Order: sequence, then C-alpha cells, then structure tokens
Amino acid sequence: MKSEILQNTIKQLFVSDKGILAADESVASINKRFEALGIDQSVENRLAFRKTLIATPDLHNYISGVIFHDETFRQDMGDGKTFAKFCEENHIIPGIKVDEGLADFPNFPGEKVTMGIDGLKKRFEEYFSLGARFCKWRVVVDVKNSTDEIIELNLRNLAIYASLAQEAGIVPIIEPEVMYDGEHTMEECRDKMSYVLTHLFGDLALYRVDIKNVILKTAMVLSGKKSTVKADSDEISGDTSHILLSTVPETIGGVVFLSGGQTPTEATLNLSKIMQHGPYKFPITYSYSRALQDPVLEAFSKNSTDTENTRKIFVDRLDMNTLALQGKYTLENETGLSSHINNVTHSQDL
Ligand code: 13P
Repeated sequence: MKSEILQNTIKQLFVSDKGILAADESVASINKRFEALGIDQSVENRLAFRKTLIATPDLHNYISGVIFHDETFRQDMGDGKTFAKFCEENHIIPGIKVDEGLADFPNFPGEKVTMGIDGLKKRFEEYFSLGARFCKWRVVVDVKNSTDEIIELNLRNLAIYASLAQEAGIVPIIEPEVMYDGEHTMEECRDKMSYVLTHLFGDLALYRVDIKNVILKTAMVLSGKKSTVKADSDEISGDTSHILLSTVPETIGGVVFLSGGQTPTEATLNLSKIMQHGPYKFPITYSYSRALQDPVLEAFSKNSTDTENTRKIFVDRLDMNTLALQGKYTLENETGLSSHINNVTHSQDL
C-alpha cells in the first residue's frame, strides 16, 4: 500500500520534460538572498515571492513538483489555501525539506553535519497529513576538506531519513551535495563524488531502503568555483554522465540535479549535454533553486508588484530548461529575458 503511494508519486514527478522546483530555502537562507538584493527580509516578502513563483499560470506544464520549507508549507496563499493545497489543485506535487540545516561537529573543525533526525517520525506523519508526498534531506561534502568520518555520519543519517520517509508514504530525495565552492580539480571532484555515491548506496542497502522509491539529488562534476582550470560543458557532462552510470543503481526511482551555484545558462547548458549522453536506465530531471530563481528574484527586487513581468522571466527560464531536458538547448536559444544575472545568490548554508 505504502509502496504503491510512493511509486505513484515517483511516476508523477518524472513525467517527461518537467522539472522539480526547489523553493525550500530556509528563512535564514532566503533572507540572505533578499538582503543582497535590497529586499526587506519580512515574512510578507517571502510569501509574496513564493506566491509569484507558484501561482504562475500553467506552471504544471513545466514543473511536476515543488519542494517547500516548513514556513512556506504552512502559509496561506489566499482563500484559506495552503501552498500544498494550491499545488494539489494545480497538478503539482508538494514536497517538504525536512532536515533542520547544518551544524558544526566537535573536533572536526569546518565540517558540517545535517541535523533533524530527532522527532522525524512524528514530523513525517504530520507532513503527510498536510499533503507532502515527497521530501528532501541535504548533506554537504567539501571536495578537499570533508573527512571520511563525517561523510559516513551524514550518509547514515540520509539512510535513516529515507527509511522513515518511506514508512510514512513520502518519497525521499537524498541529497549529498558535493560542493562547487573551492579550488578542486575535475579529477578531485570526480573521485569525491564517486566515493560519496558508492558509500551512500551501500548504506541504503545496509538499512534496507527500497531503492526504487528513492530519488537522488546530485551536483554535476565541476572543477571548483575558484579553480584556475575551468572545465567546459563537454567535459562536465561527460564526467557527470559517467559517474551516474558507474555508481547509481539502475533500479533507482530517479535522479535530479541541483544547480549548486552555476549561473542559469551554465546549469541549463550542462543539463542539456548530460541528457545528450542518454538514454539512461532511470529518469533524470532538474531540481534547481538558484539557476531558476536568480533572474526572477532580481526582477522581484526591482519591482515586487510587477508580477506579470517577473513571471515572464520565470517562464522564459523554464522554457530553456525544458529544451535542456530534451537535449536541445544551446546558448542561441536564449531570448535575453532570463539569461543575465548580476550575481549568483547565496547558497543554502543555513
Ligand atoms: P541550487 O539549485 O541553488 O543548488 O539549490 C538546489 C537545492 O535544493 C539545494 O539544496
């Protein structure tokens, strides 16, 4: 019965040419993005911005699911409807980020452990009753500095979380984000990602997680943001495709990409080239936050009441990513509406 619910959700999330919007920035993370663009960091503005995105007419033609943060999940969109209810009525599956962010760990300076296992079983029951049908838990891995001990701790928590999510009838997205930040080379990123994914799937098997009802959310293989040698999209897509094929079980429910601090056009181009390496044995799509939202947020910061224009920019970016899912996107497709941003905004570090 639970397995049927989970399978049904996966089927609806991975319909061809649709992505999953990550709109699950914590209050602290989105406030940092607001601050950088001079937007007042208020609950009303967070609501207004998310409403602008989610109530875009015909969003379901582009997006099959949206991941929310707890604050948004409980907010009223108007007419007494929560975001989850609104999504349900508009053929979009509501999801929830359930981890409680990153914390320092004693004796491992600079490393981060993802918090939130305590009380998770109860929270899942509540989220299911509020309409959540998939969820997300993110851990971070620094290519040069994460130790095997902290990686293992985070991966085990991902397995525990995934098991509890499935028990509640909620599809878990497991997200071990190998960070773009840093000076690492492509080779170092490849090695780290391969290590992380191999151990992750080992832990999932060990804790008897049903792999067909799991979604992997991964970064692409990238040389570090501060690396002096930049890889091009052919190398990025080739290496990413190779890592997926060599580490991800064919029976997994699906794979989605995060954008990780790439610009919107980089994330779209790399996705398109990764799709050209297919077909894959499992469904693949994107689940971007910044690469979809940054141009939209800039428009919102300039005039938060011009919803029509802000949505035009959002839809333009969605159009580009639909082309990418078909492996057909090139930079020549850009209309100029959503391809330029002044800054990639702050990552989800809180
Ligand atoms: P980005 O696309 O901005 O990396 O965000 C995706 C996400 O969900 C990070 O947890």
